[in-house]
Amino acid sequence: MTRDEAAEAVHTIMEDHKFGKSGDEIVIEEFLEGPEVSVLSFTDGNTVVPMVSSMDHKRALDGDQGLNTGGMGTIAPNPYYTEEIAQRCMQEIFLPTMKAMNSEGRRFKGCLYFGLMLTKDGPKVIEYNCRFGDPETQVVLPLLDTDLLTVMQAVTEERLSEIEVSWKKAFAACIVIASGGYPEHYEKGYEISLPQGDHQIYVAGAALKDGKLVTSGGRVLGVTETGNTLKEAIDKAYETAKQVKFKDMHMRSDIGQRALKAYAGEDR
Ligand code: GLY
Repeated sequence: MTRDEAAEAVHTIMEDHKFGKSGDEIVIEEFLEGPEVSVLSFTDGNTVVPMVSSMDHKRALDGDQGLNTGGMGTIAPNPYYTEEIAQRCMQEIFLPTMKAMNSEGRRFKGCLYFGLMLTKDGPKVIEYNCRFGDPETQVVLPLLDTDLLTVMQAVTEERLSEIEVSWKKAFAACIVIASGGYPEHYEKGYEISLPQGDHQIYVAGAALKDGKLVTSGGRVLGVTETGNTLKEAIDKAYETAKQVKFKDMHMRSDIGQRALKAYAGEDR
């Protein structure tokens, strides 16, 4: 957040070698501020079809406090990603990205991930990934109405412009359940007890050991539920997540709260 903090970080990375050789080279970027939006897209190298937008929650603790993680939970659609911003992103970011990749001979077919920040100067790219995002996919694909295999075939056969990709008029929330101590030191090997009934629970840092599901990583499970309102999706996801049990488990209790305020017009 400050120049001193940035200088200290460079010192730790380049002189104390906190990340070993990976820290021998660094990139200094403009500091961007604003709501973050993840937009995954299908592309066959010619056409880009954005998926429903989503919002990740990167920090380990409630109120966006604590260390950065791989993502502690997501909601979709993202309230900040209005139709107007979507059109701007298509013209200023998505299509130019495809054009630039093609002109460099790097034609790409698959899922292209745009990590965006909506700054006061407009949408800017934070990161690209040539894969689905985690935990964004856990809230995006449950809202896909079109058969995924049909879309994937259209992608590989370069027929994406010929099919319609449609989305459910619904909301989704995913609560990540992590090992206590993540993203720093945490223990592994704790037995996991799952809720009864039919739920969408995605396994990340867990493994089968002697026929039992045990923790094996930092982010252990992602619990997704959908609903007709965002609040319904969030409430259901927490209800299911709270039925998961393992020693020292940790989850944020405010996933989706900022989005709820934004939908209510209280955080714009
Ligand atoms: N959620 C960010 C990523 O998948 O890299």
